[in-house]
Amino acid sequence: MDIKKLIRKNILDLKPYTSARDIYNNPSGILLDANENNLGSTFDEIDGLNLNRYPDPHQNDLRKLAELNFGIKKENLFFGVGSDEIIDLLVRIFCEPEKNNVIIPEPTYGMYKVSCDINNVETRSVLLTDEFQIDEKAIGKACDEKTKIIFLCSPNNPTGNLLKKNDVLSLCENFNTIIIVDEAYIDFSEAESLANEISAHPNLIVLRTFSKAWGLAGARLGFCAANEEIINYLFKVKAPYNISALSRYALKKALDNVDKRQEYVSKIKKERTRLKNQFESSAGIIKVFDSDANFLLVKVRDAKDFQRKLFDEGIIVRDRSSQPKLEGCVRISIGTEEENDLLWSAVQN
Ligand SMILES: Cc1ncc(COP(=O)(O)O)c(C=O)c1O
Repeated sequence: MDIKKLIRKNILDLKPYTSARDIYNNPSGILLDANENNLGSTFDEIDGLNLNRYPDPHQNDLRKLAELNFGIKKENLFFGVGSDEIIDLLVRIFCEPEKNNVIIPEPTYGMYKVSCDINNVETRSVLLTDEFQIDEKAIGKACDEKTKIIFLCSPNNPTGNLLKKNDVLSLCENFNTIIIVDEAYIDFSEAESLANEISAHPNLIVLRTFSKAWGLAGARLGFCAANEEIINYLFKVKAPYNISALSRYALKKALDNVDKRQEYVSKIKKERTRLKNQFESSAGIIKVFDSDANFLLVKVRDAKDFQRKLFDEGIIVRDRSSQPKLEGCVRISIGTEEENDLLWSAVQN
C-alpha cells in the first residue's frame, strides 16, 4: 500500500518548522540559539529538571524508554499530549476538510467524531454488531474513494469489549484506508497489543495511553505505533516541543515503577469481577456487560434516574444511553475498594 497516496497534498508538500534544537541534536556548550532564559527557571529545580530549556523535539528519550518497555522500535513510535492529540494530528495529516470522510463504528469513544468535526471532515457512523464487533460489510457499504480513516477502539469505550483481532486485520488487508486502533484500555485485558502487527500492515496505527493503567491522566501522555513513514509525518506536523519536560519526568518515574502499574491493574481487575458479580445480583440492573477495561457498562431501566440517584449519594457515573445500541446504559469506572463498597450500597438503595 502506498501511504503517500493517503496523505493530504498540503502535508506532503509542507516544509515543517525547524526549531533551534533541530539543527544541533542535543547540543552542549553555551546555548544562545533558542531564546530561553539562561539564568534559570522560576520553578525550583527537582532532580536536575531544567525547565528553562526546551525539551528534545525528536522525543529521543521518550521513544527509547518506550522501545525498552514495550518492545516497539523507536522509529515506529510517536508521543502526543495524550492520545487525544494524536487522534487530531492523524485526522489533519490524512483528511482534506470538506472532501474526505472517516468511518466510525459506533457506539464508541466520542473524540474521533469531535476531532473530525473540528477539522471539518465528514464522519460516517456505522453500527457495531449486536455483540459490539466489527461489521465489515456495513463498513464496506459506508466507504468510498474519499474515505481516509476507519477508527476502531479495542477494548471499546464504552462497551468494554475487545474487537476480534482477525476482524481488525481483515479491515487492514481489505481497505485502502488508514486503520486506527485505539488501545487505551488494553492493559486491563489479556490480549496482546496489535502494535506487533504494524510491520505486516503499513496502514495500521495503534494508539496507547498512559492515562489509564499507568495512572498518568494528569501528565497528558499517549503514543502511537505505526510504520516509519507515518511517524515521520506526525513529526512533520506536531508543535515543535509538544511533550513538556514535566511530563517526560513523570513518565521516567512511572516506568521505574512498573510493579505499581501491575499492582493497580490486578486490583482493578479484581474489583471489576467483584462489582460485576454484585451488580448481577441486583434487581435494579438488567444487564452487566463483560469488560476488558477499567469500567463496567450496565443496562438499567432508566439511565437518567439511575445516574441521578447515585449523584444524590455523591457518586458520579456516566450516562451513555443516548449512544446507538446503548439504551438504558450507564458506564461506571472501577474505583478503589472503599469507593466500590459505597457504590454497591448506593445501587442497592
Ligand atoms: C478510548 C479512549 N481513547 C483515548 C482517550 C484519551 O486518552 P488520553 O488521556 O491519552 O488523551 C480516552 C479517554 O477516556 C479513551 O477512552
